[in-house]
Amino acid sequence: MKLTRLKLKNYRNCTDVELDLNHNKIIIIGKNAQGKTNILESIYFLSTLKSPRTSNIKDFVQFEKDYFSVEGVLYKSDTEIDLAVEYNLNKTKTLRLNGLKTTSKNYKSTLNTVLFSTQDLLLLRGTPQDRRDWLDNAISQIYPAHDERLSKYNKIRIQKNNLLKEPEINNALLDVFNDQIAIVGANIIFVRQKFLKELKHFAIQKYSAISDSEVFDFQYSFPYFELDEISEKLKEELHSRRSEEIARHQSCVGPHRDDVIFTLNNADATKFSSQGQQRTIVLALKLAEIELIIQKNGYSPILLLDDVLAELDDLRQNYLIKSISNTTQTIITSVDTLLFDDDFLQNVKIYNVFAGKIAN
Ligand SMILES: Nc1ncnc2c1ncn2[C@@H]1O[C@H](COP(=O)(O)OP(=O)(O)OP(=O)(O)O)[C@@H](O)[C@H]1O
Ligand SMILES: [Mg+2]
Repeated sequence: MKLTRLKLKNYRNCTDVELDLNHNKIIIIGKNAQGKTNILESIYFLSTLKSPRTSNIKDFVQFEKDYFSVEGVLYKSDTEIDLAVEYNLNKTKTLRLNGLKTTSKNYKSTLNTVLFSTQDLLLLRGTPQDRRDWLDNAISQIYPAHDERLSKYNKIRIQKNNLLKEPEINNALLDVFNDQIAIVGANIIFVRQKFLKELKHFAIQKYSAISDSEVFDFQYSFPYFELDEISEKLKEELHSRRSEEIARHQSCVGPHRDDVIFTLNNADATKFSSQGQQRTIVLALKLAEIELIIQKNGYSPILLLDDVLAELDDLRQNYLIKSISNTTQTIITSVDTLLFDDDFLQNVKIYNVFAGKIAN
């Protein structure tokens, strides 16, 4: 798939930007704070309705304006699809596919993107929440219903937390919440396990292509795979930790507490790996995500590289550049073109961004 046009109105510092993206490789060059990340973020948002920088859609509205819009033209299986998101401070957001209003569930499976930013390089140093976010965002590119399940789960969890904060616990109601947590939670864990198993095949291959001196592996922290078994084990844990949850006034059991454990030669990579090894892991994961999306959806996602090349050493930079095949549309931001060799630069479209405007 290829995004051929992008149009932004009042999106952060981009008042009025129109970009012809009908190229395979695009580099957006600009000094700090000119709008490079904003442009990539808007493409990621057009794809997922999310941003790694904020969960508040109001943040995208340009200061002192009352709406923003992001529009794109996607070319996929010989068909053009118009995508549009508009948000008005007085109303909710409106999503359109080919001009027709649609639901977020329908909307979200249209454009696939893999975003790789400098922030991602810190995945192993980050919190379990960071790793769950990475995992859930990656999953929703392939299994769009995952997002709905997560929000359903979070609603139940918030209601349960409110109950646990009350001075007198309604035990019957707690049972109801726990049953729901076991059912919806098990579905979430099941999909996470399934996705990690599918990703692993590609990730191990990518890791060893960069460095074959270690054995890379990863596991989900809740070690059960079958849906029924996961649900049973969750029920058991909810039962055995019931008084702890009541005493702590919070839900301690469920997928909102899980993590992904990465290992190199069987040692926990968050604790024992060097920075370079951790970066190799993240690079392998991102490249594996692309392969898995191709395998599952039949199209390559669009790869968005935000400043990330500058953070990688020569070996990893070369591997990344070599891996992004001609079939993967890639949009890269960078402060300059020094990092790219002449061969690469010959086949790319370069845009310069200055104060939220495209300068060429
Ligand atoms: N809602 C908003 N309205 C107006 N301007 C905004 C809004 N949100 C962010 N900005 C501004 O957009 C500018 C560009 O931000 P962006 O993150 O895209 O920079 P960048 O080009 O990626 O820079 P860097 O190289 O430092 O990463 C910043 O100055 C920021 O303050
Ligand atoms: Mg930036």
